[in-house]
Amino acid sequence: MSEHVIHFIYLASTACFILSLKWLGAVPTAKRGVIVGTLGMALAIGGTLLEPTIENFRFIAAAVVVGTIIGVPMAMMPMTAVPQRTALSHAFGALAATLVGTAEYFLHAPHIARFTMGALAIEVILGGLTVTASLMAAGKLQEIIPTRAILFRGQHYLNLAVLGLAVLIGIYLVIDPGAWWLFPIMLGLCLVFGVLLIIPIGGADMPTVIALLNSYAGLAASMMGFVLNNKLLIVAGALDGSSGLILSIVMCKAMNRSMANVLFGGFGSASSAQGAGVKGEARALTPEDATLVLQAARSVVVIPGYGMAVAQAQHVVCELAELLEENGAEVKYAIHPVAGRMPGHMNVLLAEADVPYEQLVEMDDINPIMETVDVAIVIGANDVVNPAARTDESSPIYGMPIINADKARTVFVLKRSMASGFAGIDNPLFFNENTRMIFGDAKKTLQALISEFKNS
Ligand code: TAP
Repeated sequence: MSEHVIHFIYLASTACFILSLKWLGAVPTAKRGVIVGTLGMALAIGGTLLEPTIENFRFIAAAVVVGTIIGVPMAMMPMTAVPQRTALSHAFGALAATLVGTAEYFLHAPHIARFTMGALAIEVILGGLTVTASLMAAGKLQEIIPTRAILFRGQHYLNLAVLGLAVLIGIYLVIDPGAWWLFPIMLGLCLVFGVLLIIPIGGADMPTVIALLNSYAGLAASMMGFVLNNKLLIVAGALDGSSGLILSIVMCKAMNRSMANVLFGGFGSASSAQGAGVKGEARALTPEDATLVLQAARSVVVIPGYGMAVAQAQHVVCELAELLEENGAEVKYAIHPVAGRMPGHMNVLLAEADVPYEQLVEMDDINPIMETVDVAIVIGANDVVNPAARTDESSPIYGMPIINADKARTVFVLKRSMASGFAGIDNPLFFNENTRMIFGDAKKTLQALISEFKNS
């Protein structure tokens, strides 16, 4: 196949990736973004298979079989497990970059140009640390390993020393690519650093860390593009790297945290501050009584959180909203940028239940009108509606923007117990005068509300 045709395929693939990212940025065009992104990847694989340098397809076929065997069950993991699934994907992407880098080194050393050796060292350093860090992040999210942040004296110095040594070896290898015995030491240090990087970070910060690891894996792939002289890899890796970085910055902003605080803050450690503590008595309400209030409501705002995902309550929420609308109420869904466990978690679930996009309102747009809302129904959300973030300076989430559910005339909180959310802190909202707790699994509670509504 002519080289021009392959370059043209790569160019088309690059265009697909760029358009895909653009379209994935808005809910109405997201589906198109997924399709075009998949097309871009198909073109990239197709173009690679046409490369005249490939002499034997046996290994490629074996890799496709292994990839399919691992990939298909991973794609079927439940929605609630998507963050850990994403972490595993990054681990595999980074593993590929690390293995390719290692193979390239041992195939060509010491005859490697300085620039290529520099790119190769960055590829292996970033790839290696991303492999173990992503596996650790997936383990923490799946709770296979303890989720709390583990801190010890001199930890940051140790981490810096391990990474610093790996970087120094990388620099030495650029000067003397023939020092092959240093390469495995550099790789080993990076793998160890990946583990050390995640140990001091609590489970609550894992989604942000995963976005950052996405960025590292992308940069490793981009460096791999320089090593292999493959322009598509350079561009796709750079797109991946920059979008991961932007996403992690957006998430930090939504939690009012700095990147340094996420990476070194020990948020979620046993010793991190717990806030001023909450006193008072929560008032429980039955679905029957709640229905009477809902029937009189003219404006209702649904505030979903992680519990809605756990209960898989998105379809019944939509059904209740339709009943409320038939009864003359205006219904909106207030979406917090970090509600749930991954960016866009609530949007995806509500889209699955065919909730009209126009009814989804972002935090900054709903907050100014919260005081005019008759009933706020908080469904499995906790941290993202915690008023301590506004009022309690000693709270670990102080300053995090929240949805001001407490300002609605009446607040219904649907959850199973008085347990805390992901940040592990109490929520004064549950004890407010205007709050009523409706205990139970969110889906069952909503089903009870719907049948009461229909029967009354
Ligand atoms: P959380 O604060 O984690 O609270 C979820 C609540 O859902 C829990 O309090 C739990 O209470 C309830 N719940 C669980 N299963 C339920 C069920 N079957 N039925 C009813 N309720 C159920 O959730 P949130 O408000 O969505 O906040 C998200 C948290 O994740 C924040 O701390 C945020 O900073 C963090 N985080 C998110 C992201 C992204 S990108 N989304 C990134 C980084 C950090 P019960 O056990 O009492 O039912």
